[in-house]
Order: sequence, then structure tokens, then C-alpha cells
Amino acid sequence: ETSTAGNAAEYDFVVVSNRLPVDHVVDDDGATSWKASPGGLVTALEPIMRSNDGAWVGWAGRPDLDIAPFDNDGIHIVPVPLSAEDVENYYEGFSNDTLWPLYHDVIAPPTYHREWWESYVAVNQRFADAAAAVSAEGAVVWVQDYQLQLVPKMLRDKRPDLTIGFFNHIPFPPYGIYSQLPWRAAIIEGLLGADVIGFQRVADASNFARAVRRLTTSTTKTTTIEVASPGRATRRVIAKAFPISIDSRSFEELARQPHIQARAREIREGLGNPKTIMLGVDRLDYTKGIGHRLKAYGELLADGRIKVEDVTLVQVASPSRERVQAYMDLRDEIELTVGRINGDFATMSHTAISYHHHGYPREEMAALYLAADIMLVTALRDGMNLVAKEYVAARFDDDGVLILSEFAGASDELKRALRINPHDIDGLKEIILQAISMPKRERAARMRSLRKRVLEYDVSRWSTAFLSALAGVRGDRDTAES
Ligand code: G6P
Repeated sequence: ETSTAGNAAEYDFVVVSNRLPVDHVVDDDGATSWKASPGGLVTALEPIMRSNDGAWVGWAGRPDLDIAPFDNDGIHIVPVPLSAEDVENYYEGFSNDTLWPLYHDVIAPPTYHREWWESYVAVNQRFADAAAAVSAEGAVVWVQDYQLQLVPKMLRDKRPDLTIGFFNHIPFPPYGIYSQLPWRAAIIEGLLGADVIGFQRVADASNFARAVRRLTTSTTKTTTIEVASPGRATRRVIAKAFPISIDSRSFEELARQPHIQARAREIREGLGNPKTIMLGVDRLDYTKGIGHRLKAYGELLADGRIKVEDVTLVQVASPSRERVQAYMDLRDEIELTVGRINGDFATMSHTAISYHHHGYPREEMAALYLAADIMLVTALRDGMNLVAKEYVAARFDDDGVLILSEFAGASDELKRALRINPHDIDGLKEIILQAISMPKRERAARMRSLRKRVLEYDVSRWSTAFLSALAGVRGDRDTAES
């Protein structure tokens, strides 16, 4: 029992996610500090947390840390410890070697291990207990993403007074794929503990509804699910699409700053001022289709349809899940391909691919977006893809061409991007050529339309929509009980 145990249950708004918004990092000299953690989730939720004075329950990003809760920049941080074994079985194993490939259309083969599942259950229970301990009576708890799908039910069993939301940041797969999972029914039951279950796309929500019909006795009617539990009144759960977004204005403001624009010019010069700079920005993940985009670019160079002096590709691939085998294999494959293309086509003054295995701060990303004539998003499957939205938000000059995979959630909204099927290499090559030669007037018209969407549907609109749906369910329940 910690000293705060008696008065810890005081937060009315609690976010629960695998990762805290900050990672605990140790430098080479042994000094420790906190640094913004990777992924789109943090960027999406941070502004809401600041304005809500809530608590955030999550993992600090390293094994075997036992850190007391603390306040960081207006957010109460509640670290959940994971042992080295938990990291291996719950995080690297079940979350990222079972669920991640399964939910992304089995692009990589999912591995099913019973030990990993047991660890997933145990760790989910730990997160649920931690959330229950900080939540005030009647609080709103918002659980995030595929790592914590059992938490809604675990929380409801322990704290029926809470209003519980769940948002799935990644795709929810079609039943034919989902049904492979040996624990498919338990996950659905876990999720149905929430009052509102949010998905990125309408298709994800309907895949989920189908799984509910196949695996439970609950009935579904468009976005409403009637959950029947023995000995209790039926409970109404909403399951629908709430496409996530970014803090668009702040991204635009950043890009407008003179030093960012100067940095963008410097980047162009550093690359030898090619006519066209193409950019890819991804976590180094097999879902992102990085190999497909390299293949298309390499073939265009080999065919002589573009010249290395004219068209440079900048690829930022931020390190991710580096102890999972599929990610090690992917890194080898991508770096081999980059090396081959550069070896075949680079000259003493011009590289073909400027490859960076790093994450960069927001400032540098904004400058890169401004420097890039073409943004390449070629995901084979992606929940949303916030990079596409960041590129659009940064282009206050109404210039730049977005090439966007139809398999990214963002393509439901960004209709005037050049949409592609990344598996179709010839199609991708044609679209790249079309983007290179697109007249300025067409670029501006398309970008204006994309910007309208991204600036209007920003992250605060997303969270407001989700939280109003949650408040609506709670209102109905209060009425029913009184
Ligand atoms: C995706 C997931 C997030 C995750 C992020 C980074 O965006 O939806 O839940 O945090 O990737 O992955 P990591 O495994 O490093 O947390």
C-alpha cells in the first residue's frame, strides 16, 4: 500500500493506455529523464488531458520500473510496472506478435502462444486495478487500443459506477481473419464491458458487430449492441466509427514559423536541390508498405523514367519493437534494399534514398513536410495514419501532393489525395509520375480540399464526439435508474 492509497481515487477523467505519454529513458552516462513516447496516440490525447485535469494510467516504456505516481505538465501520471517477462509475453508477444499482425490482415503471420495469452490477461487485470484505484465515484474512464481489450470488462466487474469508453486505434479485422484467434470470444466479452467502443473506420465497426453476432448472444442494430448478461437487465453499448485526428492548428502554426521554413530550405539544399523531393515517414513496421514504395522508386530509376539528380526519396523509419523477430527481419530487408538502390543509382553528388533510422522532434518533421513535394503513404493496412494528416496540416502554402493508400483509414476522409493500391507496383509508379508532373494549379486545388477536412476535423473534434457519445450513454443509464 502506498501512502496515497487512501485518497488516490479522486480523478473524474482517467485515460488508460499501454504507453504513458512519456517514456522513462536512461542516457549512456546513466542519467534518467522523461521523453515524449512514440506513436500517434500520445499526440492525439495530450491536448485533451491538459484541458481536463485528469489521470493517465500506463507503462513507462522500460521493464522492472516501480515509479510512484507524479504530476507532469498538468497530467497526473500513474505508472503501471511491467517485468521483463511481462514485456516479453504481454507486450512483444501477445500484443505485437499475435494481435498486431492478426488485426492488420495477417500481413505477417500471427503467433499463438497460451503463455502469452495468460500474461495478457494478468497484465490487463493490473491496468484495470490501477485505473479502478484512481477513479472517483462515477468517473469517466477511457481505455485505449488493442493492448488493453480486456480492461473494459475487468473494470466494469470491479466498478459498475464508472462510465467506460474504449477506442481501438488499429483496424478491426474481418471475421474470417479474426476467427483464427483461439481467445476470440474472451476479447469480444472484454470489449463489451465498455459503454462506447470506438473504431477508426465504419468498416472496422461493422467487422466488430459481425464478430459480436457470431460469438455472443448479444444482438446488434446498426451502431447499437444489446448486451444480455444472465440475471441482469440488458445493457446498451454503442460501437461506431470516430476517425482520430491531430492537433491540426498547432501543426500549421509550427510550419508557419520562419525558422521552420528556413530549415525546410536547408534540407532541400542539403539534398542538392533536386527538382522533386519525395518523403516517407513511418515507424519501421511491415504494415507500412515501405518495401513497396522502394520497389516502385527503384524501378522508375532503373527504367530511366526519372533521374537521381531530379528526384530524391527521403525515408524516415523510426525504430519500433526492435526485439520482435518480424521487425528485425523487416529492418534487414529494407536496409538491404536501400543499400542496393543507392549503390546502383546514387552519384557522388546525389543520393537516391536519404534513409534515417531515427525518430525526429515535431519541429524537424514540420520542416521535412514543407520540404517534400510528394508525401508517400503506402500502408498495406493502417488504422488511420496520422502522418498523412500532419503533412496536410503543415502545408499552409497549399502545395505538395499526397499519395495515399486506400488501405489506410485516412483515405476514407482524404478523398482528394492521389489514392493508390500499394500492391499494384505499376499503378504506384504511374501515380508517382503523375504527382511529379502535376501542374501547380491542380496541386493547390487538391491541397486546399484536403486542408479543409483536416483543419475542421481535428483531434478535439474527435475526442468531443467520442466523449459526447459516452455522456449520452451515461445520461440514458441515469434516467433508467431513477
Ligand atoms: C500504434 C499503436 C499504438 C502504439 C504505437 C507505437 O500507433 O496504435 O498503440 O503506441 O503504434 O508502438 P509501441 O509498440 O512502440 O507503443
